[in-house]
Amino acid sequence: MPLSCQSPTRRAPARLFLAAAMATALGALLTASSGSPPIRHEVERGRQIYLQHCASCHGPEGRGDGDAGAALPVRPADLTDGRVMNPLPDHVLARIIGEGGQAVGLSPLMPGWKAFLADRQIAQVIAYLRTLARPPFRPEEVLPVPGRREGPEQPIFFSHLIHAGSFRIDCQYCHSGARRGVAAGIPSVATCMGCHKIVAARGNPEVEKLHGYWQRKEPIPWVRIFRLPEFVHFPHKPHVRAGLRCQDCHGPVEAMERVHAETGPSVLQDLRGLVGLGGPPRPLTMGWCIECHREMNAAGARAPLDCMACHR
Ligand code: HEC
Ligand code: HEC
Ligand code: HEC
Ligand code: HEC
Ligand code: HEC
Ligand code: HEC
Repeated sequence: MPLSCQSPTRRAPARLFLAAAMATALGALLTASSGSPPIRHEVERGRQIYLQHCASCHGPEGRGDGDAGAALPVRPADLTDGRVMNPLPDHVLARIIGEGGQAVGLSPLMPGWKAFLADRQIAQVIAYLRTLARPPFRPEEVLPVPGRREGPEQPIFFSHLIHAGSFRIDCQYCHSGARRGVAAGIPSVATCMGCHKIVAARGNPEVEKLHGYWQRKEPIPWVRIFRLPEFVHFPHKPHVRAGLRCQDCHGPVEAMERVHAETGPSVLQDLRGLVGLGGPPRPLTMGWCIECHREMNAAGARAPLDCMACHR
């Protein structure tokens, strides 16, 4: 709730609370940056594990330039690159380190260490890796990646978390129809190959699948997630031009290893509605479209409510 909505009598305790919260946060920050003994100890243990098991490939300072890595067709990651590493939450890093690169779609040339390292040791290595990041690691930059993957399995393990989250490729680089036309569009194999003729061209079975489609000149049979019935007309362009973000309708896709959504009518939602526990309408139902159009119009937009605008 914005502060301006509160009565003056409620504002004072709110300020006090804020001041107390800030003092606590500041305290936590100071101890973290000066490295309180327990944290420093974990990081030091992590550094030793790193030097023993990881430095041969990732290099003594984590820059991906170790001697054993030089011979691999996929370059070991530069673990100091904060732009790429900082958005990834601990549980994703733990999965990569524990189960190996293929657990997230990366190359199996990044081996899994579960047989050699306990969970605690993996957490220690991660604590050490966080100290290498430039720009420095900030917990608030971490993406909200769900612990469990939902959504259908796709023909290639294509991760939005890696492309749009970690490497920050713009949504519209791949979905370029969104600002121009009705459909956002799924990128062609040629668009993928624009990068993957070079990036991870050898040594990653998922990228090799991509090369297979390219050589056979076949489109990739992606499973569709967001789809309206035939009798509804939804154009992306006016929505994107009106300043809506992709995430307003699709959720935090950049944090998804597999795109997932609960869309369309649901019997459960209807039942909840009947007993007054409705909640907001699910995406892609008519109620969802209309509710947003009404809200936006109250704020001055001109979104249609007449039947023929959406049903043609
Ligand atoms: C045999 C060489 C090798 C060893 C040893 C190795 N790695 Fe890797 N690692 C790789 C390669 C190659 C990649 C890149 C995979 C890709 O891009 O598909 C990688 C990727 C990673 C990534 C993913 C980074 C990203 O950008 O998402 C992490 C994290 C990582 N390694 C951590 C470790 C840790 C921690 C250790 C030691 C416990 C370790 N690696 C040991 C080869 C190695
Ligand atoms: C703008 C460049 C770019 C484009 C376009 C691109 N990729 Fe990637 N892709 C990358 C980078 C960078 C990585 C990380 C590589 C690494 O660390 O080994 C990656 C990793 C991957 C991986 C392994 C990690 C994962 O996501 O599971 C797969 C598979 C992949 N890409 C498939 C695709 C497909 C399919 C397309 C087209 C729909 C595509 N890529 C388009 C840059 C690109
Ligand atoms: C490198 C290319 C690439 C980038 C960048 C990218 N996407 Fe995608 N997107 C794909 C591919 C390929 C698919 C189909 C496979 C899948 O569903 O994961 C897809 C699927 C989707 C879908 C589901 C489509 C359906 O089937 O209904 C949505 C929604 C989506 N992307 C939104 C986004 C958003 C939002 C961003 C930016 C945060 C983004 N994408 C960035 C390539 C990309
Ligand atoms: C106002 C809500 C809304 C916004 C904003 C929005 N989308 Fe969509 N998107 C939808 C709906 C609804 C569908 C299903 C359309 C259909 O089936 O005809 C869809 C479908 C898609 C698809 C599936 C393929 C296609 O072209 O239909 C992709 C990919 C996609 N959106 C990506 C994006 C991206 C990227 C952005 C931001 C640039 C974005 N969307 C913004 C509502 C939205
Ligand atoms: C998050 C808010 C939001 C949602 C959800 C949404 N819309 Fe809209 N829609 C808008 C806004 C804002 C405009 C007005 C854009 C403008 O001012 O030109 C609009 C405009 C439209 C237009 C008119 C386009 C034109 O050419 O002028 C159509 C048709 C439309 N929406 C259909 C839909 C359908 C169908 C759905 C549901 C599947 C939907 N919208 C969901 C916000 C939304
Ligand atoms: C802003 C867009 C929008 C407008 C305006 C709109 N609809 Fe819809 N309508 C939808 C969408 C999206 C669906 C599909 C939703 C679904 O599958 O539940 C739909 C579904 C329907 C259905 C099928 C319902 C079902 O259960 O299968 C009927 C009938 C319908 N609309 C009638 C109307 C009438 C009559 C009006 C005018 C009073 C209207 N719609 C205005 C978006 C719209």
